[in-house]
Amino acid sequence: MTDRQTTETGAEPSQPLLTLTAASKSFGPVQALRGVSLDLYPGEAHALLGENGAGKSTLVKILAGVHRPDAGELSVAGEPQHFRSPGDAQRAGVAIIYQEPTLFPDLSVAENVLMGRQPLGRFGRIDARAQRAAVAGILRDLGVQLEPDRLVRGLSIADQQLVEIAKALSLSARILVMDEPTAALTLLETERLFRVMRSLRSRGAAVLFITHRLEEVFAECQRVTVLRDGGWVSSGSVAEYTPDSMVRQMVGRDLGDLYQDGQGVPGAVMLEVRGLGSPGLFEDVSFQVRAGEIVALAGLVGAGRSEVARAVFGIDSRSGTVKIGGHVIPPLSPQATMAAGLGLVPEDRRQQGLVMELSIERKANLAILNVLRRSLLMDRRAEQRSAREWIQHLDDTKICTHAQ
Ligand SMILES: Nc1ncnc2c1ncn2[C@@H]1O[C@H](COP(=O)(O)OP(=O)(O)O)[C@@H](O)[C@H]1O
Ligand SMILES: [Mg+2]
Repeated sequence: MTDRQTTETGAEPSQPLLTLTAASKSFGPVQALRGVSLDLYPGEAHALLGENGAGKSTLVKILAGVHRPDAGELSVAGEPQHFRSPGDAQRAGVAIIYQEPTLFPDLSVAENVLMGRQPLGRFGRIDARAQRAAVAGILRDLGVQLEPDRLVRGLSIADQQLVEIAKALSLSARILVMDEPTAALTLLETERLFRVMRSLRSRGAAVLFITHRLEEVFAECQRVTVLRDGGWVSSGSVAEYTPDSMVRQMVGRDLGDLYQDGQGVPGAVMLEVRGLGSPGLFEDVSFQVRAGEIVALAGLVGAGRSEVARAVFGIDSRSGTVKIGGHVIPPLSPQATMAAGLGLVPEDRRQQGLVMELSIERKANLAILNVLRRSLLMDRRAEQRSAREWIQHLDDTKICTHAQ
């Protein structure tokens, strides 16, 4: 694969906006990045691909000034850079759009966009009118309909990302890095984000785009870099890849090995749902899940898939029958559901799944605290053992159990 950029018009390659050369980064024993290089050219959307744990977010955080690389060089528009903080990255024109933006919920869209840089009027007061007009202009340029005076609280993730993009533009960012922005978006929201991405590119910005959806790479990106286990695998123009070659490079094996044939003979019925209903949400939902099979619950956004999952798990009320391993489970009892062996990984894991203040150790055991308790106190050893067993089980020995 070549690493030279050929523009769509076939013009001479321009100078890269950003160059990362041979960057390495370790966290204790974990080498998250090993000599990774990346060039970003003006006007391109560049896909950064790799399996979970490949080092994509670590690379993003180096560009963000969050992590300092142990080795390697970074330059922006030909100027060597040594980011010591996110502020340094911001001043160099690099903006990061995280999957879940970190805005101030009780401030307005306009206040968030111009945070710390609000136009001042007489007596040093914030000039609210000028602030609103400036932000309305940016949003209009982006082709986005968002009210500058609206509070950020209650905005969808998609809208919050757009607020972050508007903020990046107000800071004159020329390099936008998006870490899995589409993972939490609906189809329409994703299309809107792509329109914005195209408009950014047409103004000469470079976009580094992380996604797991290869169709998005082929539709929206011009170049690709693939990482595997913290190492650089390839860079090139999208036309040099096929979906198969991308996956093969990401996992380091042939695709044939990924899907094992003939092992999918389903066993006994583990979960049986009959006539499940909830007024106004869904009715008469019935299905079975057998041992050894994966059952997909398909439907458009809003069709009630998450609601069915919540009702089956006992979070929301429902009519109908839920049987786990042949036993009828009472409604509205997550405890009984979990005791019977069903687990739920919710859609919004940050809000609904994880207790962010707890260590991985405690969270991993949250559902079985009763079992681990010795009289009134927790058995710390048993807790540690249990968490370690699970982490081993997930074959991700790199997770540190005290990380929060
Ligand atoms: N702050 C950290 N402390 C310890 N290990 C980390 C930290 N950040 C990332 N890692 C580890 O570095 C590796 C790469 O992670 P990451 O960059 O998040 O990958 P990706 O974004 O491609 O899924 C993983 O093994 C991860 O567990
Ligand atoms: Mg990541």
